[in-house]
Amino acid sequence: MSRVTVCARFRPLSSKEIRDHRDGSGVCVRGIDAENFVFQDDKEDEFTFSLDRVFYEDSAQAAVYEFLALPIMRDAVNAINGTIITYGQTGAGKTYSMEGPGIQDSDEHKKGLLPRVVDGMFEQIRSSKDMARYTVKLSMVEIYMERVRDLLDLSKGNIQIKENKNQGIQLSGVTEVPVSDSAEALQHLCSGLANRAVGETQMNMSSSRSHCAYLFTIQQDSVKDKRVKTGKLILVDLAGSEKADKTGAEGRVLEEAKTINKSLSALGNVINALTSGSSNKANHVPYRDSKLTRILQDALGGNSRMALLCCCSPSTSNASETLSTLRFGMRAKHIKASPRASEVKSAKTREEPSSETKDEKRGRILEKMKERMSNEDIKMLEEVFIQEGIIFSLDSMEEVDTAYEDTVSKTVISLHQTVEKLQVKVKKLEAKNKGIQEQALRNHESDRLGRMSRFISSWYASFFTS
Ligand SMILES: Nc1ncnc2c1ncn2[C@@H]1O[C@H](COP(=O)(O)OP(=O)(O)O)[C@@H](O)[C@H]1O
Ligand SMILES: [Mg+2]
Repeated sequence: MSRVTVCARFRPLSSKEIRDHRDGSGVCVRGIDAENFVFQDDKEDEFTFSLDRVFYEDSAQAAVYEFLALPIMRDAVNAINGTIITYGQTGAGKTYSMEGPGIQDSDEHKKGLLPRVVDGMFEQIRSSKDMARYTVKLSMVEIYMERVRDLLDLSKGNIQIKENKNQGIQLSGVTEVPVSDSAEALQHLCSGLANRAVGETQMNMSSSRSHCAYLFTIQQDSVKDKRVKTGKLILVDLAGSEKADKTGAEGRVLEEAKTINKSLSALGNVINALTSGSSNKANHVPYRDSKLTRILQDALGGNSRMALLCCCSPSTSNASETLSTLRFGMRAKHIKASPRASEVKSAKTREEPSSETKDEKRGRILEKMKERMSNEDIKMLEEVFIQEGIIFSLDSMEEVDTAYEDTVSKTVISLHQTVEKLQVKVKKLEAKNKGIQEQALRNHESDRLGRMSRFISSWYASFFTS
């Protein structure tokens, strides 16, 4: 079984689509069962899709949560990293599925994945509190125009992404608020979303122009043996996946659309790299091509469980976007690497290594050592290895990478600004040019009239004198 759970969700027809529907357009999906459906494109060609689960328009928010998010949330509390992503064109139901009508909306029926995950997480923590002491921290970021903004502290407008050997991908300096219960977490999520809304009006963007990531770090201190384990749970509400040319966008909006398309293509390229080629051969995976893929590197690259909800409109008027969303989902279904089991489970769930490579063997031994050693021991051993020159400190290399990424991102943004300024200048020059042309035309006209009147008066004069 593939480790990425891929589901499709078709929202109900919107009122506009119902109106179009009356004028002859139809519905592009015909359900077969809970996993299979037939999709009809605008040329009336039919495709049968098989996914882990299909949620049709009458599906309940609770059903989506139970199938797609609950197992990942449970694993994250048990220190196995997990990621839940909503993907699809603008208006397809990503935010509705993720948040529901509002994070703190109490309607049990309409509540989205995020508040359900938060409730479920604290419920599970309560039921396991005799075995371990838990600490939950929350961060919230938005990726807009290839910049990572901290939604819990707007002064941090360009968070850098670093890779740490032990903890994986890290958002350097991001705000992490400790949350002790569901109500507190939802309150912070609400403030974060409000910050996103402020950003929107200031930058004149709508939420579909940026990716939003909710990050939970769940640390578990075992009562029995004092071991510390951490699970990371990331929920991502992606920006709309529609093609830039379809939106008829111009200027800044077009640039936003291009950046979104670029980061979503980068996500597609990473998925392609992970699903093509032999599983043993290490082929290049272009995680560094976008901030989104870099943040999701651990989730995509085998250190995490992942669920993808492909949100779709059921209307034939959106058939081509829906088809591309479904194809994206099918591709993601083929990511095969297994999630790295947490320290507790690794011994039990690991397959016996009959034909393991050198790298796999080394990894297995290191995992085993990690199980037996404390974090302190590992750090000391690492220090000795660095001093002896056996391994290199990743930090210094990461600093260089980060500085490079920062410079690239600054250059791109300043180029955008320069292009925008140039566009304004060109428009001004065009207007000026038009004015000059009109003036010249007027001058020419009056000159012509002047010459004509001079000619007529001299003609009259000569006529009467002769
Ligand atoms: N499953 C659903 N049931 C009812 N309404 C939905 C559903 N999915 C989306 N909607 C409605 O459709 C509209 C667009 O959904 P939204 O989640 O904002 O789209 P996206 O985030 O993909 O741009 C919203 O008005 C939302 O309430
Ligand atoms: Mg949205």
